Amino acid sequence: MDSLRVFTGNAHPELAKRICSYLGVDPGAAEVEAFPDGEIHVKIDENVRGCDIFIVQPTGAPAENLLELLIMVDAMKRASARRVTAVIPYFGYARQDRKDQPRVPISSKLVANLITTAGAERVLTMDLHSSQIQGFFDIPLDHLFAAPVLIEYFQSKEITDLTVVAPDVGSLKMARAYSKRLGATLALVDKRRTRADQTEVMNLIGEVEGRNVVIFDDIISTGSTIARAAVELKKRGAASIRVGVTHAGFAPAAQEVLGQAPIEEVVVTDSLPPKDIDLGGKLRVLTVSGILGEAIRRIHEERSLSSLFV
Ligand code: R5P
Repeated sequence: MDSLRVFTGNAHPELAKRICSYLGVDPGAAEVEAFPDGEIHVKIDENVRGCDIFIVQPTGAPAENLLELLIMVDAMKRASARRVTAVIPYFGYARQDRKDQPRVPISSKLVANLITTAGAERVLTMDLHSSQIQGFFDIPLDHLFAAPVLIEYFQSKEITDLTVVAPDVGSLKMARAYSKRLGATLALVDKRRTRADQTEVMNLIGEVEGRNVVIFDDIISTGSTIARAAVELKKRGAASIRVGVTHAGFAPAAQEVLGQAPIEEVVVTDSLPPKDIDLGGKLRVLTVSGILGEAIRRIHEERSLSSLFV
C-alpha cells in the first residue's frame, strides 16, 4: 500500500500533530514560510512520489491559510504524489453560499473551484456551514460531524430536564440530531441578522421554563447569535444555559459579548486554533483529532466512513 503522509501549513499545526499522533505517523516535512516580501514559499522536504497525501489546513481568515493549502497541493502534485486529500477541519468562506441579495458572490463555490483546480483529489471536512457546499465540489468529499465528541461530553455531565436549542433556523437540523441523541426536548430561536455583527431574537418556539438548556451551533464568531439567544432563554425561565459549538471562530468582540451573557459553559472543538479569549473559566475545548484521524485512516485503507457520520 502507498504510504500515508500527513502535512500541514501554518493554519493549525497543533491539530495536525494531534492527528499524526492518533495515526502513529510522523508529521510530513515541509517548509511553508514567507519570502522576505511576504509571499508564501513552499518546499516539500521529503520524497512524496506515489504517496497518499493528507494536508491538514483550516481555510478561515487570514487568507494566507487558503493560499498555503492551494500552494501545498500544487507542490504535492508536481512532486508526483499519488493522491492529495485536502483535510479542512473548518471550511472558511462558507457563509456566502448563495446569491440571496443583488451583487453578492458565492464565495464557497469559488473556494471549492480553487481547491479542485490546485489539484486536490478529495476533500475531508467537518460541520460545513451548509451541507449543499458538498455539491460545489466535483471531487469526492467526506463531511464529518463533531457531534460524537460534543455528545459524549454532554452525556458525561448527566444533565437532567435537558432541552436542546437551535439558535436559528439554519441550525435546526443539527439541533434536532443532537436532541435525539441526548434524549432532550427541542426548542428554536427565530433570529434575524440586523448587521454582520448583530442579531436580534424575533420569537422562541418551544418550552424552556425550568429546563437546562444546551444551545448547539456550527460556529461562534462575534458571539451575538448565542448571547442574544441566551438572554431570551433566561427571560423565558431557563434554569441553566450551556453552549456546544464546533468551530471556535471567536472574533475579538466575542469575549465581551459572551462574558456578559447568562451562560455557564461554552464547549467548542479544536477545528480552529485557539484564540486569545478569556471567558473566565467557562470555555472548554474538545479535540476532533480522533474523528479526523480515523477518517484519514479509513480513506487511506479504502474502507467505509459511514459509521463516522453520526
Ligand atoms: C449562522 O448562520 C451561523 O450558524 C452562526 O450562528 C453565526 O455565524 C454566528 O455568528 P455570530 O457569533 O457573529 O453571531
